[in-house]
Amino acid sequence: MKFFIDTANLDQIKEAQDLGVLDGVTTNPSLMAKEGITGKENILNHYKAICEIVDGDVSAEVIATDFDGMIQEGEALAALHPQIVVKLPMIKDGVKAAKYFSDKGIKTNVTLVFSAGQALLAAKAGATYVSPFLGRLDDISTDGLNLIAEIRQIYDNYNFETQILSASVRHTMHVIDCAKLGSDVMTGPLSSILGLLNHPLTDIGLAKFLADYKKGN
Ligand code: G3P
Repeated sequence: MKFFIDTANLDQIKEAQDLGVLDGVTTNPSLMAKEGITGKENILNHYKAICEIVDGDVSAEVIATDFDGMIQEGEALAALHPQIVVKLPMIKDGVKAAKYFSDKGIKTNVTLVFSAGQALLAAKAGATYVSPFLGRLDDISTDGLNLIAEIRQIYDNYNFETQILSASVRHTMHVIDCAKLGSDVMTGPLSSILGLLNHPLTDIGLAKFLADYKKGN
């Protein structure tokens, strides 16, 4: 399973990259705003800065909600850097735009997916990635992980090449559950990745090894 980090924070992206396990980055307008990155020029420069830190795909979201606007914006984003993936909302024009970019060989990530039907449409349109938001489904007492399982089954039934990018991952158990379900990618905060490191028996065991080494030296 690929690990993407879901942030626009350059320090956190560098930390995940330095760990050696990072495969890409996802962002959205809310994550950009959280880092105080506003204005078209600053946002575009920030995408370039992210691409310089990581080796993998970097999702950059369009703001337009009409087909022509999405195409114009998406083409400009794709031209910024070869690692850019055009992120499109799961609306009618977003599906049409995903098909347009797919035909042109430009990678896409269809976002704000909350149902198996939406994921099926994204795959039919040739999206590179589909982003089901599992945490936000959990937030409204709906089983987000069940959606990941449904999409996995549908994509496997027909060998769709669209990759399931489990998004709105909030914590370490989400990461593990996504891996168990066969999600192709997960994107979450740095804490969801670093949390995988932790086990008290590791800390206790290491302390004992070091203490025993000191006894003999
Ligand atoms: O990747 C989608 C993500 O940015 C949304 O996460 O935690 O705001 O639901 P969250």
